[in-house]
Amino acid sequence: MGGRNWLILGILACLIAFSSARELKVREDNKLAVYNHTLGTILVEYASAVYLSDLTELFTWTCPRCDGLTAGFEVIDLVVDVQHCLQAFVGVARDPNAIVIAFRGTQEHSIQNWIEDLFWKQLDLNYPGMPDAMVHHGFYFAYHNTTLRPAILNAVKQAKEIYGDIDIMATGHSMGGAMAAFCGLDLTVNHEAKNVQVMTFGQPRIGNAAFASYYRQLVPNTIRVTNDHDIVPHLPPYYSYFPQKTYHHFPREVWLYNIGLESLVYEVEKICDKSGEDPTCSRSVTGNSISDHLVYYGVELMCETWRSCRIVSDPLVAEYGKTDLQGNLILSKDPATPILKMKTQSSEGSNHI
Ligand SMILES: *[C@@H]1O[C@H](CO)[C@@H](O)[C@H](O)[C@H]1NC(C)=O
Ligand SMILES: *[C@@H]1O[C@H](CO)[C@@H](O)[C@H](O)[C@H]1NC(C)=O
Repeated sequence: MGGRNWLILGILACLIAFSSARELKVREDNKLAVYNHTLGTILVEYASAVYLSDLTELFTWTCPRCDGLTAGFEVIDLVVDVQHCLQAFVGVARDPNAIVIAFRGTQEHSIQNWIEDLFWKQLDLNYPGMPDAMVHHGFYFAYHNTTLRPAILNAVKQAKEIYGDIDIMATGHSMGGAMAAFCGLDLTVNHEAKNVQVMTFGQPRIGNAAFASYYRQLVPNTIRVTNDHDIVPHLPPYYSYFPQKTYHHFPREVWLYNIGLESLVYEVEKICDKSGEDPTCSRSVTGNSISDHLVYYGVELMCETWRSCRIVSDPLVAEYGKTDLQGNLILSKDPATPILKMKTQSSEGSNHI
């Protein structure tokens, strides 16, 4: 990273440090999520896999990140919105026995650029049907106004027809976490799903305090995992001087950090309060680290290479695909059929966009 980027990050970190602690009180009438460490270590693997660009390996769940705790996952839909460079999948997991929806974080340009932009995002959209709730339109539209939403809703519906009312878990890292939150809210509010859980990793703020308050009433089963000095959960900044206007996280944060004396280092997982902006959690440190953003529970959360959006697939999966006029691709299979055992021969029909 060049000196200029470090300088900018330094300035951002200072500004964040000055946006200090006075809380807007939110009503506390319902139970919040119970944090389950094992579930975190499983869901982070889905959030990591969705970054991969080989669609054949993802669709058949044979990718290098598709083993371990996620083995046996059955993908129902894999969606690539080429226009907006977004990717997500929906499938059914064995443990937890749940429908899992995973959203990719940004893949465009570089993580540094994306983080710099994040600093200036304005609260500029009224969340429909929630008076005074404001969100950032970019995150909102990434879920609501792209190929992703209809494909995801359709896959969830299909899965429910076969598997019944099992839990639905939405997950994602970074901007993918923001989209997972909007998805969890959408399923709850507009599709009467009752058993929705959301777990995000290194998620930025997405709305104001009024939004956070609605969100926590509607999707109480939400965990936002933040890692040590990860810069992204500190953005867009929280300005305590403008409590009605500023961005405000929804609960519940779980803050991962290390305490160490010389050679002894302990990993701590702190369950934070119900405010969403617990001053004793990640807010107690300066968010100045990109490397802390890219690894959660020891799992890498980034694409293999930073480059423009691309699709890599081969003719074997192409027959499961539909491409629209804009070039967006949806790979879809009937969840009633047994797990697809496609041989992923390295046939050279690869398609780079
Ligand atoms: C935590 O999640 C794991 C994985 O889904 C599950 O097996 C376990 O029972 C859960 N623990 C609790 C206490 O709910
Ligand atoms: C959202 O989608 C609608 C309909 O497809 C379109 O008219 C509108 O311009 C989109 N809004 C944004 C901000 O992209």
